[in-house]
Amino acid sequence: MPTDSPRQLAMKSAAEVIVYQNSGDACIAAAERIAGVMKSKNHPILGLATGSTPIPVYQELVRQYQAGHLSFSSVSTYNLDEYYPISPLNDQSYRWFMNHHLFQHVDIPANQTHVLDGTVPASASTEHANQFDRWIEEAGGLDLQLLGIGRNGHIGFNEPFEADLAEAVDLPTRLIELHPVTRTDAGPAFGVVDKVPTHALTVGTRQILKARQILILAFGKNKAEAVAASLQGVPGSNVPASLLQTVADRVVWILDEAAAAGLKV
Ligand code: PGA
Repeated sequence: MPTDSPRQLAMKSAAEVIVYQNSGDACIAAAERIAGVMKSKNHPILGLATGSTPIPVYQELVRQYQAGHLSFSSVSTYNLDEYYPISPLNDQSYRWFMNHHLFQHVDIPANQTHVLDGTVPASASTEHANQFDRWIEEAGGLDLQLLGIGRNGHIGFNEPFEADLAEAVDLPTRLIELHPVTRTDAGPAFGVVDKVPTHALTVGTRQILKARQILILAFGKNKAEAVAASLQGVPGSNVPASLLQTVADRVVWILDEAAAAGLKV
């Protein structure tokens, strides 16, 4: 159980916003919510995220599995994104990340884990992305989508761009060009920014926003501006996480104090 008592912020929109004193407790609380969804369904369908933010969440889920409290045997997972092009054997790939941080430690059958394929030929990328959307739909849609947020407000690799709201909330899974801020932030992981792939495959806003529950995590002062713009700015394509306001009653934000610092309450 988390050790501190979180505070719940009242927002104008229906989104639940819970602020923990530290990110460790926040991640345990997030893992408990994911475990709750897993236990409430015969065949849970989880949308999973990568990046530094959810690593402790996966550690807690692994701990619960090892303690015999949780099974992944009937879970199917669909990851948000993958660099392009990249080999799944490359330790910067999100397939490698998921194997390393979660899949290899739990009882999930390998063919129930789905990560967009960073080796698909460019000429087949649209077909592959469309197929990924169809797989999620044929599985019955996502019971829970776990999200982080980029400094530029991206969710998955849906980067800021100019579009009207109707288009912004209905983006399919697709190949995109990474935003300069995203490539800068990924630089240390790849050694230098020039080695960060220029492109990525990402699940689109259409599928993310259809999830029956959306859990978005943000920690640290670097995220404060994006969090404030997402929760209290006008929803629009220039801050993709602000599009969560359009489905606010299904969204839970889990923050630490530093990431919540820009919110006006
Ligand atoms: P991070 O990335 O968890 O590494 O900060 C979050 C994101 O870009 O979605």
